[in-house]
Amino acid sequence: MSAKTERTFIAVKPDGVQRGLMGEIIKRFEQKGFRLVAMKFLQVCVLMVDQDAVASEDLLKQHYIDLKDRPFYPGLVKYMSSGPVLAMVWEGLNVVKTGRVMLGETNPADSKPGTIRGDFCIEVGRNIIHGSDSVDSANTEISLWFKPEELVSFKSCAQQWIYE
Ligand code: CDP
Ligand code: MG
Repeated sequence: MSAKTERTFIAVKPDGVQRGLMGEIIKRFEQKGFRLVAMKFLQVCVLMVDQDAVASEDLLKQHYIDLKDRPFYPGLVKYMSSGPVLAMVWEGLNVVKTGRVMLGETNPADSKPGTIRGDFCIEVGRNIIHGSDSVDSANTEISLWFKPEELVSFKSCAQQWIYE
């Protein structure tokens, strides 16, 4: 895969969906010049026992596996399954790193205006968007959320006006 076809996994979390920010987020990635490769709208189910998420559906469990021992993990799984999410794959030069810059910091309080989290949210536990943090985790997350046949490759007619 050439550098220009690097891919990242971006998801609008349930709070971003409920707050009507899907279009705004898609717009930012589209206007930047990145290409949409895949998109699906889904709600992940979680088994709840006595208000605790004891067994999340494999997808979410796998997605946040690195955080499973953190104190906020049960709340995170509950939050991520509390409503639909918009899962997407975007493609382009350095899209993983640039995507993270466009998102801002994990804590919206540390995120600069002009970033998605800096512009649209306040608390770390309601930070509206997910973006892969490395090329390796992007590849893992893309294959977790999408089947290979759901990824669409196409040549944008704007390509030569975006890349020299
Ligand atoms: O999403 P990002 O990669 O920026 O951060 P992370 O460290 O991978 O954490 C994943 C998610 O866990 C965050 O986006 C927050 O939704 C949540 N989180 C939280 O609720 N409280 C924290 N102290 C840290 C993260
Ligand atoms: Mg992360």
